[in-house]
Amino acid sequence: MTRILVVNGPNLNLLGTRKPEIYGSATLDDVVRVAREAAELQGIEIRDVQSNSEGALIDAIHEARLDCDGIVINAGAYTHTSIAIRDALEAVSLPFVEVHISNVHAREDFRHHSYLSGLASCVIAGAGIQGYAFGVHHLAAIIA
Ligand code: DQA
Repeated sequence: MTRILVVNGPNLNLLGTRKPEIYGSATLDDVVRVAREAAELQGIEIRDVQSNSEGALIDAIHEARLDCDGIVINAGAYTHTSIAIRDALEAVSLPFVEVHISNVHAREDFRHHSYLSGLASCVIAGAGIQGYAFGVHHLAAIIA
């Protein structure tokens, strides 16, 4: 069965209470539910991971090469800082979608640069948590 890893990085465990004017009121559980519902429509399985630690995120990406077909990743602030997460995504050679709940391009300058975008199959920013569903549908289309 096709399987997608949904990765959420630092501070996304606080969704629902963290800056709701920017990130909305949905929680991390809601994010995973939205991704899973999109996946079920496509007959795809979801595995999800959230960590505040860069190393744990890299380990999860490495493990995905064994049994996943693609990755939807919101690396949070590591998007803008982590060459290591970029290298991990490049190393596993899985198609991935970069998701941001907020429109990072309408925010501070330091959020405009992403170390991941240049390798991503698709980048979604500003669609709220529906962005995860769009990411799943995109991967389903290119994996098929
Ligand atoms: C984010 C945007 C990042 O700039 C920020 O550091 C986050 C969340 C988003 O989903 O909009 O933690 O990735």
